[in-house]
Amino acid sequence: MQFLKRTHSCGELRPSHVGERVVLNGWVHALRTFGGVTFFDLRDRTGITQILVNDSSPDTVRQLVRQLRAEFVLAVEGTVRLRENPNPRRETGLIEVLAQQITILAESEIPPFEILEHDEKPLASEELRLRYRYLDLRRPSLQRKFLVRNTLYQLAHRYFADHGFIEVETPILMKSTPEGARDFLVPSRLHKGKFYALPQSPQLYKQILMIAGFDRYMQIAKCFRDEDLRADRQPEFTQIDVEMSFITREDIFDLIEGFTATVWQEVLGIELERPFPRLQWREALERYGSDKPDLRFGLELCDLTWLGTASQLDAFRSVVAEYPDGTVAGLRAPGCASYSRKQFDELGELAKKHGAHGMAWIKWSDGGAVNSPIAKHLGDGVLEQIRSSTGARDGDAVLIVADRWERCLTVLGALRSELGRRLSLAQSDTYRFAWIVDFPLLEWDDTEQRYVARHHPFTAPAEEDIPLLQSDPLRVRAQAYDLVCNGYEIGGGSIRIHRPDLQERMLKLLGFSSEEAHRRFGFLLEALRYGAPPHGGIALGFDRWIMILAGTDNIRDVIAFPKTTSGLSLMDGAPSEVSPDQLRELGLIINDEHSS
Ligand code: AMO
Repeated sequence: MQFLKRTHSCGELRPSHVGERVVLNGWVHALRTFGGVTFFDLRDRTGITQILVNDSSPDTVRQLVRQLRAEFVLAVEGTVRLRENPNPRRETGLIEVLAQQITILAESEIPPFEILEHDEKPLASEELRLRYRYLDLRRPSLQRKFLVRNTLYQLAHRYFADHGFIEVETPILMKSTPEGARDFLVPSRLHKGKFYALPQSPQLYKQILMIAGFDRYMQIAKCFRDEDLRADRQPEFTQIDVEMSFITREDIFDLIEGFTATVWQEVLGIELERPFPRLQWREALERYGSDKPDLRFGLELCDLTWLGTASQLDAFRSVVAEYPDGTVAGLRAPGCASYSRKQFDELGELAKKHGAHGMAWIKWSDGGAVNSPIAKHLGDGVLEQIRSSTGARDGDAVLIVADRWERCLTVLGALRSELGRRLSLAQSDTYRFAWIVDFPLLEWDDTEQRYVARHHPFTAPAEEDIPLLQSDPLRVRAQAYDLVCNGYEIGGGSIRIHRPDLQERMLKLLGFSSEEAHRRFGFLLEALRYGAPPHGGIALGFDRWIMILAGTDNIRDVIAFPKTTSGLSLMDGAPSEVSPDQLRELGLIINDEHSS
């Protein structure tokens, strides 16, 4: 198609262009007619320019403008002039283009929702926007997030190349080695009854690349995990995946802090303080009730396990008596004495959602009077002790949970995050990073009745804890670390096991028989026998980085074509049924009971 090609973009014109004849190409954004004068905004990726059609425009243009509707695609030729009513909030707001020629390059049906600029009106429902994602993606505020995403791709390639890393692509069709999340499986046509799996991460390949002598590897890698979705989780997501040989944990911290500082400087113009603080996993839980604490605000938890003996309350006494790790802990809720019983009930529901049996509360009115459903079981002395240990003042409340150690703390951690939100304790333009270190290597899985790796089965135990593998596996610390920022886990990695005997021992501890270990991970165990260098690495959660950098708490805002929380792609309708022929070719039969 022959058409008038743009001389400028829609975000480019300034008063210095006044008097120039220009051509713009773009979408009709908003159209207003007053008497014989029509204004409309023309939009492209770079911005919006006001177009004016008035008496001095040719008749053909004045007629054509009557047919225009939002989202038509146009070529507009005209002269740049200063606006009578400038709009200082828009970069092109001082000028407008007086139209001399307009061509409609494409018409548009009436869109199911308006393409609004930020803050103009509430957005249409997310479901509708995801169904018409190409229209949603026309929103300037959403496009800006993808420009940040693009910058992060460029910075990652450049930074790691400058530091001697080479990029290697690893397979998308791989062997199923589930550990952690469920695999997405792909049936093989050539080998009926067999399946490939989509990688949950390139973990095993990057370790094998170290054995192959690549020394420093990086990849911006797609990962796939069939797990429950949340606001910061998608079934397919992107990692900046990194692995290095002949290094210690400190080398990785230094490299990643350098990268983070570069990104924050280039994207936000913010200089980060380094080194990032380090928090032991245990300390993070005890102080903040989370292994990814939001450090933008204090509000630390307070141990009240002494209540297990000092109070008459069964809920506290039984937990402490029953479990060796039974714990009672509390959290000051500043200014929450004004909360009604209903509001405390809401917090109690949240505690239950996170696995607690219940949540107790005490509040002190501005005059210091105590109000609490449990006050009569405590007595004045104990109440005063709770108040002084938690630092509660008049007008504050204290929330108390009793449970086994980890559950008690993580429930209070969830309450801490909720209070942070309700009381706006965290500033949105502040970024607090930390390394969480000294994770336990293993945890006990009650359903499977076996130990499972907290990180993954290839993470090395702390050298000095190796003897405990035999005697007290749950006390073994891992050489694993997470990078956290503002309450998000934005990266995780470890030093790996590079000795085949220790790797076999680890798999055995995880309950794999020798045959099972070889059937699943034989290729790694074999490769480890041919000279594996000491190595380690990390993967950064690319999408979560963009969420933080672009200031959104919804991961779907930073992925071009995301899935809903129930795993659907509303635009193209995936997942979908396939034809009987396709199934036959793959040797698959659908059991009707399970088809929807
Ligand atoms: P891990 O499983 O901790 O480690 O993942 C690394 C980082 O990826 C991000 N992430 C996710 N982002 C969006 N949606 C998801 N479903 C999702 N799952 C994880 C997080 C997380 O910190 N192979 C190891 C890395 C290594 O040991 O080097 C791994 O994948 O930000």
